[in-house]
Amino acid sequence: MEIGKGTKVFITGAASGIGRSTALAAAGFGARLFLTDINKEGLDRTAALISGKPGEVCMARAMDISREDQVRQFALDIHAGYGSMDIVMNIAGIALFAQIEDMTHDSWEKIINVNLWGPIHVLQNFVPAMIRADRGGHIVNVASVAGLMGAPWHAAYSASKAGLIGMSEALYFDLRPHRIGVTVVCPGGVDTPLQETVEILGADKGGKRLGELKKFFGRHAISPDAVAQQILAALKKKKFLVITSADVRFGYFFKHHAPPLYRVIMFRIAGLLNSLKKADNDSV
Ligand SMILES: NC(=O)c1ccc[n+]([C@@H]2O[C@H](COP(=O)([O-])OP(=O)(O)OC[C@H]3O[C@@H](n4cnc5c(N)ncnc54)[C@H](O)[C@@H]3O)[C@@H](O)[C@H]2O)c1
Repeated sequence: MEIGKGTKVFITGAASGIGRSTALAAAGFGARLFLTDINKEGLDRTAALISGKPGEVCMARAMDISREDQVRQFALDIHAGYGSMDIVMNIAGIALFAQIEDMTHDSWEKIINVNLWGPIHVLQNFVPAMIRADRGGHIVNVASVAGLMGAPWHAAYSASKAGLIGMSEALYFDLRPHRIGVTVVCPGGVDTPLQETVEILGADKGGKRLGELKKFFGRHAISPDAVAQQILAALKKKKFLVITSADVRFGYFFKHHAPPLYRVIMFRIAGLLNSLKKADNDSV
């Protein structure tokens, strides 16, 4: 489905990073936007950046996607004023970098609530209205490479994103008769504020090696604008899986075609991260 003048697009995570870039790109094609994020200031800034573009922000509301009551109320208000959506994009998310012995129940719950329950709340409250409207449409779920490949130090994050990928695949088949397409986007490194807001447990945040590792990932990160362009292209081509970076596509290929080599590489990465933890803790 192509975004054109008047296409109604709902986007979570629109205050920052990939969500903001995607909202701006959609506005460039004349979309009518329905935006949300927990960060009101950032959301207002996105709305301000959109004014002057061919598209318009019909509604923007700060809310927590992990709260079903808030998502339901926003959906009711949008549907009452504007009818059902054409495109729904789950982009909001948080990240956690930790090993199981350093995680609390709260840290597990928080990441599952935002990254998995959040999209469930959105889909549950927006997709049935799209089916009833019978105009077709598209769903975009932004997961992660960590959902395709269980990455060291990413148990909770990988669990949340693998859940989102599984749900997306099921919906891809379920929604076909309704002409509603599904795309799941799996970014590798993207240069957004998430790289700084990622919660890190069990390692010294100020440690030298952690700093070096962050710089390494930063150098391999692509821009959120580039991801937004890939999302719009996938909508046009009705593509299911989008892996945004070449290095991730390479890793995914190895996982399926050379499993022993893949495991060797992943154990090396795990070892690197583990020594980083020890070194940092020793230095404290
Ligand atoms: N940046 C990366 O390297 C990277 C890599 C893989 C996947 N991703 C995924 O891409 C998506 C977008 O992330 P980004 O990189 O643009 O980061 P970002 O931090 O710039 O954007 C995420 C947005 O989600 C919002 N958000 C967080 N919790 C929320 C909640 N409970 N309710 C509503 N909004 C909430 C934040 O306020 C923020 O504006 C996320 O789902 C993330 O997991 C990012």
